[in-house]
Amino acid sequence: MENFQYYTPTKVIFGKGTEEQTGELVKAEGCKKVLVHYGSGSVKRSGLLDRIYRSLDAAGVDYISLGGVVPNPHLSLVYEGIELCRKENVDFILAVGGGSVIDSAKAIGYGIANEGDVWDFYDGKREAEGCLPIGVVLTISAAGSEMSDSSVITNENGWLKRGYSSDYSRARFAVMNPELTMTLPKYQTASGCVDIMMHTMERYFNHCDNMELTDGISEHLIRTVMKHAKILMTEPEDYNARAEVMWAGSLSHNDLTGCGTDGGDWSSHQLEHELGGMFDVAHGAGLAAVWGSWARYVLDAAPARFAKFAVNVMGVQPGSSDTETALEGIRAMEAFYRSIGMPVCIRDMGIDVTEEQLRELAEKCSHFGGRTIGCIRNLDRDDMYQIYRNARGGEA
Ligand code: NZQ
Ligand code: ZN
Repeated sequence: MENFQYYTPTKVIFGKGTEEQTGELVKAEGCKKVLVHYGSGSVKRSGLLDRIYRSLDAAGVDYISLGGVVPNPHLSLVYEGIELCRKENVDFILAVGGGSVIDSAKAIGYGIANEGDVWDFYDGKREAEGCLPIGVVLTISAAGSEMSDSSVITNENGWLKRGYSSDYSRARFAVMNPELTMTLPKYQTASGCVDIMMHTMERYFNHCDNMELTDGISEHLIRTVMKHAKILMTEPEDYNARAEVMWAGSLSHNDLTGCGTDGGDWSSHQLEHELGGMFDVAHGAGLAAVWGSWARYVLDAAPARFAKFAVNVMGVQPGSSDTETALEGIRAMEAFYRSIGMPVCIRDMGIDVTEEQLRELAEKCSHFGGRTIGCIRNLDRDDMYQIYRNARGGEA
């Protein structure tokens, strides 16, 4: 077991009607002016935004708003938010939405708390020394940004999608009412479930002598999400299924499922980020599209670990070798993805990726040859190209 630190300072307010407490929660932060940050319209259509405004008004909190965050959030809106917050002396950001809105809020927060260009942090040029405090009202179970230390932003100049992580950006509080996720389109629900599973799977695939406890939590978390994702495909208003998935989403990315490990592999995420940047695919769907290709490519580096996953998570009967069991587990996971309408290759997302685009994806993912990724097996630019190529999918 590796040494570890576990830091999860976000206060969670979970359950039906909890968004009504938002005004009081913000007020308790002692801020003077709040930016309410939201996405492209779902919170307006559902009436949630009006309820949040009413709650802030009732608590006597002064606020301004900035909507328009898109999935795979853009740097240009982050710049706009930074300028607006400076002009209005904003000292707290309330993100009402999903991972994209929360990540955009975190980036604005970095921009206010630090001098210079905020993109420098995402570009790996320097470290942040602070972030404006953030609060969250969560509307989709997926990215886990409500309890994670990360944010992921797309720079339209080159369509580069890059992440930045620091504890400064961890939310002060996260309001989580599973009912708010009932308006999600089926595809977004499924994509979110894949992302949640993947945050634990990325950590699970490592070379450590793992903690039995961490492995057990991880395996159960993934199985729980699979079970309830299936229920939600036919019963989108099943409160308990929504609640199980929502709580799993936060626990899957607040580092709990990485305690005692070396941190995990994360290659699928790095490979997907470039797909999101170039083709604007839903993050979880992009993960499902590359995972099988990645798993088959690296399997030989850790067959026992993949076999354990196959047996304990996918319910596969052990075969004559770890490799055989592992391959059966990968096939079972792909069958699950298909069963909830998720892709298992890039073509399944309607993208006919060209040879030139495959090279460009590998270029960008390797930071133009400047980095390798992955711990199960360390991958360079050529490996990335092969994995993208194998993930392209058969002829249409
Ligand atoms: O913009 P609106 O109109 O709100 O619509 C959104 C968006 O189109 C919609 N939606 C959200 N809640 C809804 C709803 N529609 C109906 N009813 C609701 N209750 O869903 C769409 C997707 O929203 P988005 O915020 O993009 O989803 P998600 O939470 O999956 O976030 C994805 C982003 O997070 C990043 C991803 O790369 C991607 O950019 N990630 C962030 C991480 C982090 N900060 O820790 C980790 C993840 O691995 C991930 O990379
Ligand atoms: Zn993710």
